Amino acid sequence: MEFNEGGGNSVMPVLQAENVQKSYRMGELTVSALAGVSLVVQKGEFVAVMGPSGSGKSTLLHLLGGLDGPSEGEITLAGQPLSKLSDNQITIVRRRKVGFIFQFYNLLPTLNAEENVGLPLLIDGQSLAPHRAKIAALLERVGLADRKHHRPDQLSGGQQQRVAIARAFVNDPEIVLADEPTGNLDSKTGTAILALLRRTCDELGATIVMVTHDPRAASYANRVIFLKDGQLARELSNSAPGHNTQAIMDVMAGLE
Ligand SMILES: Nc1ncnc2c1ncn2[C@@H]1O[C@H](COP(=O)(O)OP(=O)(O)OP(=O)(O)O)[C@@H](O)[C@H]1O
Ligand SMILES: [Mg+2]
Repeated sequence: MEFNEGGGNSVMPVLQAENVQKSYRMGELTVSALAGVSLVVQKGEFVAVMGPSGSGKSTLLHLLGGLDGPSEGEITLAGQPLSKLSDNQITIVRRRKVGFIFQFYNLLPTLNAEENVGLPLLIDGQSLAPHRAKIAALLERVGLADRKHHRPDQLSGGQQQRVAIARAFVNDPEIVLADEPTGNLDSKTGTAILALLRRTCDELGATIVMVTHDPRAASYANRVIFLKDGQLARELSNSAPGHNTQAIMDVMAGLE
């Protein structure tokens, strides 16, 4: 693993954050969550975001996905500067270009696996019928071909997260954003989920930004960025995904 200052790629990035700041008003007080973060993510990259609790990781992920707007700075997603778009336009970009994976899966309890995978299409006003084959292929990819009629309460935690991963890819997103996708899973199940994300990135050419506390999880990425106090503190590039956990732990120890 080598130290990497980043930058210097001429291909148009999938995602770009320029001097992004976010502060929250709490009555009289202003809390700064992000204090000027710049980041470029290229197509096919798997980027992990690490940093101590409260360093701004989730805030950054929300801004990158257009779930919330920055106080200052610009996010450009799939070539679209979000500050130039209306809220409705941002919602459409988010539905069509972004896949989300959360720590607690966020599946709808009344829908079965197949319907949960198709949910982003339903929300986008499309019918599932023309997408059945694609949904079946995604369920197969995540190892749940034989579970498509199961509801979330009939699936294990790891299986629910697999459904959530299939769902995140159903709209052929430009980018998938994951916040602690293994945070609620035991380490063996978590490792299987990471291997699945890594494989999906390699086989589908997907682009992933994943927030994690776990250096082993981060080791599956091609690049690890470290936030501290709302700023980018370090960046490591990982030429051997699945390895180099120790180097990531060393950087984390230096930040805390
Ligand atoms: N809606 C909000 N209102 C006020 N302050 C907020 C809000 N959301 C986040 N913050 C503050 O912004 C800072 C960054 O929060 P954030 O959730 O991004 O941290 P994090 O790195 O994801 O932490 P963790 O590892 O614990 O999930 C924290 O100090 C937090 O208290
Ligand atoms: Mg968080």
